Amino acid sequence: MFNLSGKKAIITGGAQGLGFSMVEAFHNGGVEIAVIDISDEITTISDKLKANDAKIHAVKGNLLDIDSLRQSFNEALEKLGGTVDILINSAGLIERKPAFEVSLESWHRILGLNVTSVFELSRLAATEMKKQGSGKIINMGSILSVLGGFNAVAYSTSKGAVLQLTKSLSNEWAEYGIQVNAIAPGYMLTTMNTDLMNDPVRGPQMEARIPAKRWGTPEDVAGVALFLAANASDYVTGTLIPVDGGVLGR
Ligand SMILES: NC(=O)c1ccc[n+]([C@@H]2O[C@H](COP(=O)([O-])OP(=O)(O)OC[C@H]3O[C@@H](n4cnc5c(N)ncnc54)[C@H](O)[C@@H]3O)[C@@H](O)[C@H]2O)c1
Repeated sequence: MFNLSGKKAIITGGAQGLGFSMVEAFHNGGVEIAVIDISDEITTISDKLKANDAKIHAVKGNLLDIDSLRQSFNEALEKLGGTVDILINSAGLIERKPAFEVSLESWHRILGLNVTSVFELSRLAATEMKKQGSGKIINMGSILSVLGGFNAVAYSTSKGAVLQLTKSLSNEWAEYGIQVNAIAPGYMLTTMNTDLMNDPVRGPQMEARIPAKRWGTPEDVAGVALFLAANASDYVTGTLIPVDGGVLGR
């Protein structure tokens, strides 16, 4: 039910943070992985995991550029031998600024990576998954898929869209054996939140709002991703699973 050995996955944004943690967990589960990321750090992933290079393939690409995105997907698919069972869309961007100060260029960049690239990569992967009659697409939403947030207008708009995109694609593709779900991490200990964590006022305020009374770790997210990639979740689709220490339940 939970065995992923021999499966093939494409994971975007896997060079660091939550994406890297999922790469590590899936690698330990026997999954062959192609990581797509813009960062040079992808070339060090195999070393960091002491992995056999045949099981982890690095594909450097810019998912904000549609030609680069398509080329990266094709390269990833080719490196995986022409099939893909799991797509995890983890690459994402945030900018914390009051709405008055957000440039339209930044707005388009955040929507472009967090929504448009997820849509296009999902279509490309689902085209392959449909042929084999099965597949798992896991999108990274956020607690801001549901909450409005504060000083992160483009980000919360994009993550709200990720939730709707997840539901729309699930509605269309469930009949092909493709499950599309999203994970909603809360306040996680990653570089995305370094500013917040180090803020002497907002940092402790955040922690006080978390019923679990601790920030989340990348490993907390990886466990739910493994579930959503496994046969154990074959009848789970079109949903958002919070990994937030209870924040959305408040
Ligand atoms: N960290 C959190 O607290 C948190 C909370 C909720 C949701 N999320 C979501 O989880 C996902 C992962 O978050 P994270 O904390 O690991 O982020 P991160 O910033 O640590 O990592 C993002 C990765 O995406 C890559 N990337 C950025 N722009 C790219 C581009 N144009 N093309 C290809 N790759 C690109 C980066 O190089 C990096 O490796 C994101 O979608 C984020 O919105 C994170």
